[in-house]
Amino acid sequence: MASNRSLLILPGDGIGPEVMGQVRRVVDWLGMAKGVSFEVEEDLVGGAAIDAHGVPLTDATMDKALGVDAVLLGAVGGPKWDNLDFSIKPERGLLRLRKDMELFANLRPAICFNALTEASSLKPDIVGGLNIMIVRELTGGVYFGEPRGIEDLPNGERRGINTQVYTTSEIRRVARVAFDLAGKRDGRVTSAEKANVMESGILWREEVQWVHDNEFPNIELDHMYADNCAMQLVRAPKQFDVIVTDNLFGDLLSDAAAMLTGSLGMLPSASLGAPDATGKAKAMYEPVHGSAPDIAGQGIANPIATISSFAMALRYTFDLGSEADLVEQAIENVLASGKRTGDIMQAGMTKISTEEMGTAIVAELDKLAAR
Ligand code: IPM
Ligand code: MG
Repeated sequence: MASNRSLLILPGDGIGPEVMGQVRRVVDWLGMAKGVSFEVEEDLVGGAAIDAHGVPLTDATMDKALGVDAVLLGAVGGPKWDNLDFSIKPERGLLRLRKDMELFANLRPAICFNALTEASSLKPDIVGGLNIMIVRELTGGVYFGEPRGIEDLPNGERRGINTQVYTTSEIRRVARVAFDLAGKRDGRVTSAEKANVMESGILWREEVQWVHDNEFPNIELDHMYADNCAMQLVRAPKQFDVIVTDNLFGDLLSDAAAMLTGSLGMLPSASLGAPDATGKAKAMYEPVHGSAPDIAGQGIANPIATISSFAMALRYTFDLGSEADLVEQAIENVLASGKRTGDIMQAGMTKISTEEMGTAIVAELDKLAAR
């Protein structure tokens, strides 16, 4: 029977296809065990699309992405494509998806599972019980600002240019997402920018404050310079609830936050657009980690970030909160049982492969469903 839930899976490059293979097993499990089925299509992005079509994302794939309920993306990029012209690098495929789908709000939760407090490079009491949410602006700022480029100067030098630019509406809409989430969590938002050196940072601070004062006066808001925020994230991360920040600072701060949880291989993300008239928002879900060319093809990558990203899709796009809980619980149980991929391996635990992690999660899902 055809499903009314549509998914476009874009495994991409490097470990992308390996970890996505395990997500497919969870998707299939939901269909079989729970009767929750999805219309799944798979396509190419990044280097894989360059190899097949000469571009990191074809118009046809872009159209598909615009037509489905949710896109699930693995990772893009790798040394093979490093020397290509900037305009057709694998990363441009991902950036085009974000831009053309208008996915301005990127939710990157950093949760430290109990079983992994020892796997973090920080002391257990600093990360134990950590649950923070980074809301990264995703379609503006220096990633897309004009002018940009590399130009030749008359004196023989070259000049590289990028522009950090934000408008009132771009800041306000992402701030609203952050305040809204905080209202469902601990009620606190920290906004990070560099208002001490950047005009765009001053505007950021003023507009976030405006949204707070006019629309969310009951949420606690404080402002922090982004460099201080990076320092505070590794000093005392539990002081944060929701952090809202721009595209570039969000890229950096979310990588730092990821390591608090034990490994970059643990962190999922959701990228959301504005809800349409029916309340549906365009959405793409992807792990925060990249294509990890150093371990690609070895079957040892951690699929948890990507499986958790699918759980976020269940929760945010498909309104399947209890199924999302189930998947997250299965992951937690597997970790508690001592099974670990190499990135989160610790003494006394059992080291398993990507495939075995998928198997363990599906087996745990079976157990949970039988209860
Ligand atoms: C991320 C990645 C991307 C980014 C790259 C692959 C373009 O680092 O999603 O955090 O810089 O946004
Ligand atoms: Mg990044």
